[in-house]
Amino acid sequence: MTSSDPFAPVLDIQDLHVDFPTGEGAVHAVRGVDLQVAPGEVVGIVGESGSGKSVTALSAMGLLPRQARTRGGVRVKGQEVLGVGERALMGVRGRTISMIFQDPMTSLNPVYSVGWQIAEALRAHQKLTKAEAFERAVQLLTLVGIPRPRERAADYPHAFSGGMRQRVVIAIAMANDPEIILADEPTTALDVTVQAQILEALKKALEETRAALLLITHDLGVVAGLADRVVVMYAGRAVETGSVDDIFYRPGMPYTVGLIGSLPRLDSDGTERLRPIPGSPPSLVGDLQGCPFAPRCPMRVPEICDLEEPALRPVASQEAGPHLAACHFADKVASGAAGPIFAATSADLSEPALAEGAP
Ligand SMILES: Nc1ncnc2c1ncn2[C@@H]1O[C@H](COP(=O)(O)OP(=O)(O)OP(=O)(O)O)[C@@H](O)[C@H]1O
Ligand code: SF4
Ligand SMILES: [Mg+2]
Repeated sequence: MTSSDPFAPVLDIQDLHVDFPTGEGAVHAVRGVDLQVAPGEVVGIVGESGSGKSVTALSAMGLLPRQARTRGGVRVKGQEVLGVGERALMGVRGRTISMIFQDPMTSLNPVYSVGWQIAEALRAHQKLTKAEAFERAVQLLTLVGIPRPRERAADYPHAFSGGMRQRVVIAIAMANDPEIILADEPTTALDVTVQAQILEALKKALEETRAALLLITHDLGVVAGLADRVVVMYAGRAVETGSVDDIFYRPGMPYTVGLIGSLPRLDSDGTERLRPIPGSPPSLVGDLQGCPFAPRCPMRVPEICDLEEPALRPVASQEAGPHLAACHFADKVASGAAGPIFAATSADLSEPALAEGAP
């Protein structure tokens, strides 16, 4: 059944768990994610490598590898997509939800012209003649900024640069007016100069289709420029969610503070410096005890943080819509009362900067 409520979330993920069986035991790639995307909303997912961003997105597309074990619910426009067969997914994919991957060649077939591929995507869901579909394909190529679109439609993907290929993928993703587009690192593989142009093409696609967007990116700058709301993931869970302003100006989770602090910045000598968060994420094999960020957290209070994994709870200092964070001391962090969390942590985590009187 599909939802007819115009305000119902277009993507509704409820307590999603995804495990991958391996020789060493199950990898708990996603451990209870709740995520709703409203019609037309742009939600950014950020987090370090391995935090479960792609697996969450693939669940929504019904594209998880066969060995994945899932629990929970993923509804796209009211229709359950988790654990349903290929046939049911065919009606949803492309039409209601579509996906843009990091590598455009994942989505393009090298042996067909790009115009043909866009036309076929259209004809898979709409009653169009070949000529009509081709005309619409040319329009879509124009919209995403391909020069001389009528001529270029006859070219094969290898005749396009990486950035131009990604524009074609955006054209395919928007071809059937989807309700939501998932984009997994859509600019990461491209030159910096091309990245901004691809984001522009993506914005155009959103304006044209009024689709919602779930944008996965390592680049917090991209999130700040495009998203309405941000979900920060760590070790298979959402550890903070809120408006772009709350996340950037009032983060309630030390991990988010660390991510923001690791943005490239110009030092006094004019060189760009990165300050990555010391340490690395925990193994997702076996059970985690306590806060998964504890081994890296300068604010850790062992008697509290090592015992109980903090739930995602409302932060007191929320200013723009719901703001939730998974830290036992989120209010203190968000209010600034905890001081500069990562300032004193060059590499030495054996003496947490704030552990003493905290909190
Ligand atoms: N097919 C698979 N089999 C086993 N483990 C997997 C599989 N796919 C993903 N994982 C594991 O699941 C976890 C989450 O992976 P995921 O690809 O979602 O991370 P990510 O946040 O997208 O990272 P990145 O930023 O590097 O793309 C990782 O620990 C990863 O190794
Ligand atoms: S203060 Fe404790 S609960 Fe909060 S992030 Fe650090 S270790 Fe986790
Ligand atoms: Mg990924």
